[in-house]
Amino acid sequence: MSNASLPGSSTMSSESSDLTFTIHTAPFRFTVSRRSTGDVLLDTSATLVFKNRYLEVTSALPAKGASLYGLGEQTKRTFRLQQNDTFTIWNEDLERSDLLDINLYSSHPFYMDVRPGGAAHGVLLLNTNGMDIKYGGSYITYKVIGGVLDFYFFAGPSPLAVVDQYTQLIGRPAPMPYWSFGFHQCRYGYKNVADLEGVVAGYAKAKIPLESIWSDIDYMDGYQDFTLDPVNYPAKLLRPFVDRLHNSSQKYVVIIDPAIKKEAAPPQNEAVGLFLQRNGTNYVGRVWPGEVYYPDFMNPRTAEYWARKISEFRRTIPADGLWCDMNEPSNFKAWEPLNEYDDSPYRINNTGIHRNLNNKTVPVSAVHFNGVSEYDAHNLYGLLESRATHDALLKDTARRPFVLSRATFVGSGRYTAHWTGDNAARWDELAHSINTILNSGLFGIPMMGADICGFNGNTTQELCSRWIQLGAFYPFARAHAEKTTVRRELYVWEPTAQSARKALGMRYRMLPYIYTLMFEAHTTGAPIARPLFFSYPQDADTYGVDRQFLAGRGAL
Ligand code: GLC
Repeated sequence: MSNASLPGSSTMSSESSDLTFTIHTAPFRFTVSRRSTGDVLLDTSATLVFKNRYLEVTSALPAKGASLYGLGEQTKRTFRLQQNDTFTIWNEDLERSDLLDINLYSSHPFYMDVRPGGAAHGVLLLNTNGMDIKYGGSYITYKVIGGVLDFYFFAGPSPLAVVDQYTQLIGRPAPMPYWSFGFHQCRYGYKNVADLEGVVAGYAKAKIPLESIWSDIDYMDGYQDFTLDPVNYPAKLLRPFVDRLHNSSQKYVVIIDPAIKKEAAPPQNEAVGLFLQRNGTNYVGRVWPGEVYYPDFMNPRTAEYWARKISEFRRTIPADGLWCDMNEPSNFKAWEPLNEYDDSPYRINNTGIHRNLNNKTVPVSAVHFNGVSEYDAHNLYGLLESRATHDALLKDTARRPFVLSRATFVGSGRYTAHWTGDNAARWDELAHSINTILNSGLFGIPMMGADICGFNGNTTQELCSRWIQLGAFYPFARAHAEKTTVRRELYVWEPTAQSARKALGMRYRMLPYIYTLMFEAHTTGAPIARPLFFSYPQDADTYGVDRQFLAGRGAL
């Protein structure tokens, strides 16, 4: 460290770093600069507030010429941040992800800043609390409702170097199994095993490659995890079906939701500390199965319980991958703020209308292992469930796990794939999917996709054809749909089937290349789906491009 003492300020930096950190004493502020260019990356002179449960910091940005990306998770009109874009960071289940600029399932207070000439850096505020972030063009403001200002700066200077440095800190993306790069078909509302069989046969007949078939909550008995519907999905039919899939080198993935039906929880004496607590007892919420407890994945014993349940279930149905849904965590119970800990002194713009933090989730006054409050740990729920699920599968199968999680946080890419959630079968959603997928790559979760053909609402033949033409090049390619909508397997319309054969045919020919990109992602953090500026950082014309992207370095 060198320590140059100017009057009223001191500068620190390590010899090998291009970044310098300067503290100014009167008035107190700090700055981070790039030594080689003199660029100031952070300057807190405008505002710096540090109180209990309220932190605010504003940093100046150059009025012109900084292109910012990241911050999420939200559905955005453009990939590059626009002046006055706002971001609320709070994991939320809105039941739809097609509303613009509203906080969704995941939290990533990370952005990349690309300056003219192509020098890029990254900024992470490693803080799990809820926050609002405003990008004002010439400044960025954070309003955070707890924790500390734990900032990390990644010097780049290339975009690839930024994600390399970022994933060195937060964890490298998980190596995904080869099969998971094939095409996946899912639907909420497949009626029974025969329905699944029909879909698999439909793909074979249409000569469209199908790598895996998925079951949504329909397979469960009363929507309870680790059970089978005895009428429509009995083990005596489902198991031979899964065995047949395996004999033809196909895979089977099932959904699990974190919340456990009250009656199915282990007896009280064994369950102590396994579930989220409130007022000294298990908190009771409501999800698909009715009244539920929420596993507290902060407790190492809960991860053991989870692994045991997964392993037991896999003895009956050897599912190849697990899909962790509803893990914001979601709660259908209406919220009632009961004490001061169910609210915050500053109301973040939750769901776009400043809803209480308890909206559609467990109360923030709930308590985790070691007394950690949900207020502070809320955004970690999906990450911790993904880790427990990943580790359980690894232990049970001794193979690379495939986990898909709806809620994510900084570091989730180490354990899980991700998707854009409940999108809509609309043309604008087809376009917006690119922005969210490119963002996920910046966040260190390169295995990312959107529900192909659209989830909510009825799709059309042409939209579905176009969607598979794009979706065939999503890193994670899965078609999925909501149960009240028209069937949309790719063979349903012949023109769509033609598009699917062509686009997926191209994907399958590229699989060795895509698999190599996965290896690069796992070793260097490089996204699989990349913005054009990753390959052409000097070319300012690429900075605003979000209707095209690259698979790796060079496939447009
Ligand atoms: C949630 C999921 C969706 C799933 C549904 C039923 O809405 O996001 O993908 O189909 O729950 O489980």
